[in-house]
Amino acid sequence: MIYLDNAATTPVDPQVAQVIADSLKNDFANPSSLYKIGAQSEYKIAAARKTVADCLGAKEDEVYFTSCASESNNIAIYGLATARKNWANKIVTTGYEHPAVRKPLANLAEYGFTVVNVNPKDDGNINPQDIIDAVDSKTALVTLIHVNNETGAVLDIKTLCDKIKEKNKRTVIHIDATQSFMKLPFDVSKIQCDSMAFSGHKIYAPKGVGGLYLKKGTNIKTVMAGGGQEKGLRAGTENIHYILGFAKACQLLQPDMRRNLAKFAQLKAHLLNGLAQFDNVMINSPDNAVPYTVNFSFMNYRSETLLHFLEADEIYISSGSACSKGAASHTLTAMGVDAKRIDSSIRVSFGIHTTEEDIDTFVAALKSAQEKLQKVKR
Ligand SMILES: Cc1ncc(COP(=O)(O)O)c(C=O)c1O
Repeated sequence: MIYLDNAATTPVDPQVAQVIADSLKNDFANPSSLYKIGAQSEYKIAAARKTVADCLGAKEDEVYFTSCASESNNIAIYGLATARKNWANKIVTTGYEHPAVRKPLANLAEYGFTVVNVNPKDDGNINPQDIIDAVDSKTALVTLIHVNNETGAVLDIKTLCDKIKEKNKRTVIHIDATQSFMKLPFDVSKIQCDSMAFSGHKIYAPKGVGGLYLKKGTNIKTVMAGGGQEKGLRAGTENIHYILGFAKACQLLQPDMRRNLAKFAQLKAHLLNGLAQFDNVMINSPDNAVPYTVNFSFMNYRSETLLHFLEADEIYISSGSACSKGAASHTLTAMGVDAKRIDSSIRVSFGIHTTEEDIDTFVAALKSAQEKLQKVKR
């Protein structure tokens, strides 16, 4: 199998699976229980929280465990915006957010917030000044996707946050870091954002665990009320097993982040070199996109057709984003890409297990698919 869809999800690392299996056997006690085995569960979660916080550059009490990045985004976006409703009703965002941000914002628009979308240019990049210009005295929240899941376009969140705060220090900033956490090195203590969402299943932990960074002292309304877990921000008995697995995944990736990035850059160069032999390939990712996500259009062929063709050889890629399930790409549409090119768009995303041989096999399979499909067309 050649798996080139790591932006959709990643396989669980065997060492992470082992931590979870051990925990399933040993850590059944509720961390909220007052007796000894409950306290043991609580200590283990506290240690996991410290590991994740260290990877972010955050303090331990600034990290909250959730079930996924969608949940983290929802908790932050609803909670931060509604806590500022008395003085501000404007939200600024990009025109290429993931649905886990776009949909809560659409709901907030129904409740009276004005949502301003800043679209990418046709090269796939957003002009940062357009975001800053959109911020004014009535801006409650700015929410930005760090790395776009479809094209790999990346925002300079450090500079953007500085400039947004310079313009309005009361504006809170949320970052969706689902496609950058543990892939791009950053230190949240040096970034003036107030919250950040991330997910386990993009970093070799299982689906069903995620995290939220919330800067200490940030005013937020609770949208997930209940038993008071996670300091009242996210009620629900903690999934200790997956939380421990999540921390293990972070621990495994942290020392290798820069090495992985260098490897991804080599893989990307190799892929682009392989794609250069086709005269019908158009690259949709910006030139300065992250090295682990490449979006291109294989013109004249529907991406879904290609996807199933490659699937027969056990090669797995994505057409647009995995979450869109065949809907036209939101990001490419926002870039102003024409419908035919969108219909032919493919996303290849590398993981730590991807090799140059995988890329060679993929490119060869693309060539063979083209030859076969050309025959059918004739
Ligand atoms: C940028 C981005 N945000 C949010 C999500 C949602 O993540 P989860 O599946 O953990 O809810 C994804 C998933 O693909 C994503 O790529």
